Amino acid sequence: MSLKGKHIVLGVSGSIAAYKAADVASKLVQAGAQVSVILTAAAQQFVTPLTFRSLTHRPVVTNWFDPGSDLSIQHVTLAETADALLVAPATADLMAKLAAGMADDPLTGTALATQAPLVLAPAMDAHMYEHPATQANLRTLTERGALLVGPEPGRLASGLIGMGRLAATEAILAAVSTALGRSGDLKGRTVVVSAGPTEEPLDPVRVITNRSSGKMGYAIAEAARDRGARVVLVTGPTALSKPWGIDVRGVHTTAEMLACVQASSGADALIMAAAPGDFRPETVAPDKIKKGPEATLTITLLKNPDILSAVSGFTVKAGFAAESRDLLDNARAKLTAKGLDFIVANDVAGDEPVFGSDLNKVTVLDAGGGVDDLPRMTKAELAGRILDRVVAALAGKERV
Ligand code: CTP
Repeated sequence: MSLKGKHIVLGVSGSIAAYKAADVASKLVQAGAQVSVILTAAAQQFVTPLTFRSLTHRPVVTNWFDPGSDLSIQHVTLAETADALLVAPATADLMAKLAAGMADDPLTGTALATQAPLVLAPAMDAHMYEHPATQANLRTLTERGALLVGPEPGRLASGLIGMGRLAATEAILAAVSTALGRSGDLKGRTVVVSAGPTEEPLDPVRVITNRSSGKMGYAIAEAARDRGARVVLVTGPTALSKPWGIDVRGVHTTAEMLACVQASSGADALIMAAAPGDFRPETVAPDKIKKGPEATLTITLLKNPDILSAVSGFTVKAGFAAESRDLLDNARAKLTAKGLDFIVANDVAGDEPVFGSDLNKVTVLDAGGGVDDLPRMTKAELAGRILDRVVAALAGKERV
């Protein structure tokens, strides 16, 4: 779910990773959230209230009795108005207190009093993280519904290499969006999304591929996650980073993508935003193809299976149509031939670039004959429109 206009309470506990919480606060504000920060006493040894006040333009809570803080008016004010409580970094000590239900400072008190979802971004020394007490506390907290993001493996402040680094800011924001959308209209649904190009090998060093960036599919996958769905993202090679909270399955060839999509049969929806290659070389040379004296090289290509037509067991199936001419006629033919609920028709020969762009201008055609000519919008906005259709199509089928 979008963070815009959401009230996020950011609790910072006393780990050296507390300095990274400033970046988290800043990115939350940039995403349009209203951010209230609570610093524990230990956190104040690492970072100052001024840092967070400057970033959030709001008072920072440092103790129960500060006359300038929201909490002095009513100790549960933040707890009641929070849309989500994020603790980043969450130390072993802080999580032990949360697991025990203690409430001896503003952060633990807010955590106990709030009904908003709790997101924990642990950061600590590897041995503290691995300790059975910490692991038991983490289990307790997740069983109660807390969402964990990280920690990540890597070099720790202690010099140790191990588990304990604070998750990346992008992952923490994604976890907050996920928590906010947990009761969304795709709650309990499984959505399979394909994205990116495929690569068909010619020899050990060469492939046949296409210009798909994967951005559209990734945007749909993230938006579905943020509306409560369990998401499987089947992706060809892209430059995009692996989105948090999504079951990402990397593939190379169209045959691999087909097998991977079919393995998720039984899911509620399949949205094929990928650009699987329609052809593959008849033979893959075991060694690098050398250039001989000939002026040409002939490669025979075999047709790949059409994934959308081949797979079954999805309640709703949707596809894209990349067309350089006769957009609507071609798209409608694909909608029918592939047995889709709707198709998103993309003019790839227009003046505006489609591949790699953050924007898209499409027309959606549905199986009932409907034609929806959408204005140019961001791929994130379009992802929302596409998922609205998935929700409606699922509801329509369940009514029957
Ligand atoms: N698609 C598929 N399997 C393929 C090729 C495409 O499932 N082997 C899917 C795409 O993910 C997309 C839809 O089919 O959702 C239409 O893809 P597109 O490339 O527009 O068309 P094609 O069906 O490949 O037909 P053509 O290339 O002749 O336009």
